[in-house]
Parts: sequence; C-alpha cells; structure tokens
Amino acid sequence: MRKKIVAGNWKMNTLPAEGVELAKGVAAGKSSVCECVNFIVCPPFTHLSQVVETLKGSGIAVGAQNCAAEAKGAYTGEVAASMIAALGCEYVILGHSERRQYYGETSETLNRKMEQAYANNLAPIYCVGENLEEREAGKHFDVVKAQIEEVVYNLTEEQFAKLVIAYEPVWAIGTGKTATAEQAQEIHAYIRKVLAEKFGAAAENTAILYGGSCKPSNAAEIFAKEDVDGGLIGGAALKAEDFLAIGKGFEA
Ligand code: 13P
Repeated sequence: MRKKIVAGNWKMNTLPAEGVELAKGVAAGKSSVCECVNFIVCPPFTHLSQVVETLKGSGIAVGAQNCAAEAKGAYTGEVAASMIAALGCEYVILGHSERRQYYGETSETLNRKMEQAYANNLAPIYCVGENLEEREAGKHFDVVKAQIEEVVYNLTEEQFAKLVIAYEPVWAIGTGKTATAEQAQEIHAYIRKVLAEKFGAAAENTAILYGGSCKPSNAAEIFAKEDVDGGLIGGAALKAEDFLAIGKGFEA
C-alpha cells in the first residue's frame, strides 16, 4: 500500500503568527479526515520552528521548501539541510518549478541538494513537470523523464525508498487550470514506469503527488486515479478548511 499524502506548499506566504494559526487550524480539523491521509505542511523558513512546535503530537509532518546544496560554510543567505532537520522537519521540497525557473536550479544543483537532504534524514519531495510550450509540443513525457533520470536515477535503493515525487505541470500552477484526472493518471503512470526502469518493483511504493490548482472541488476525482497518491497544494493550502477538504478527497 502506498502512502497517501496531502502536502501544503505555503510558498512565500504567511507571517509567523499567521502560519501558526494556519497550522493550528489544520491540526484542529485533522480528525475529520480519513486517518489514511498523511498531512505535511511546508511553511517559509522563518517559522518552521514555530510550526513544528505547534504541530507536535498532531501527526502532521513539517517540511521546508528548499535547502542549500552545500553542508555549511560561507554561503550567505542559504539554509543547510542540517539546520532544517535540527528543527524537527521531516521533509524538504526540491526542484519546484519556481526554483528551477526563477533561481536557475538545474539537475546538477538538485543532485547536491538531494545528497544534503538524505545526509540529514530529510525525505525529499522532488518536483517534476513540463511548461505549457512543452505540453503543447507533446514533449511532456520526455521532460519529466529527463528530470527523473538526471536526478532520481542517482539515488541508492535505500534513498529511493524515502522519496516522494510531485508531478506539477507548470501551466497548472496558480493558474486555476488543472490537469484533467485522465491527464494526471497518464503521466503519473508514465513516471512510475520510468522509476521502475531503474528501481524495479520498489516504484510501486513511491508516492506520486499531483500539484497544480488542486482544490476541494477537484481533489477527489484526481486522487481516485490509480497512480495519483495525493497532492502538493499551493494556494488552497493557505486556508485550513480548504486544505482539509482536499484531504477528504480520499474518502469519496
Ligand atoms: P497551486 O496549488 O497554487 O496551483 O500551486 C501548486 C504548487 O506549485 C504546489 O507546489
């Protein structure tokens, strides 16, 4: 049985007090959602610590949205994976399209970030996905394949067992435009096949999340697909009620 995961990527939103309130709201409503759902929230660095404290004992895990490619040292403004882990975080989002697009993250950087994450016992949520031009040119399969081959294929079997993948088509992020459940299933099944080519049967256990304008009204339909194991949620994760309602997509 694969893990069912609903993860919230808060991006650069919420001040510390707002983040704590949001986390409290999610914790308060968690019992209304199937116990089978593993919730993760990924606040900005500035309040990771407070959110970890707030969620102690709630069963909700906390992740960071990025980490440095180096272990420590003279890298002004960077945050090391060891620092994130020391706060009690369990996950780190790596390779989000916004980081690839705005901050020039390449497979080379991401390989080093993955290494740091694993060295510090953080489970990476590795994001892949094509942009609109690539989708329209029918290149989406090749794009995600390369993103996986160049990074995930470098993992050991032990590391791979802890990996979470998020498929996030760039054209669906924050646009209100969602991939159809069929489009999601098609590419999730393909991603699992590409993973299986390297890791064999272990790919059956990998949680592959869908991200891109996922909301309460479309979550159930998308999550019902065989190879969709949950969601990585942006905008809708900023309201506890909506985030929880997305989790309820698993009960439908
Ligand atoms: P939205 O849910 O706001 O489209 O964002 C998706 C995303 O990028 C999550 O990482």
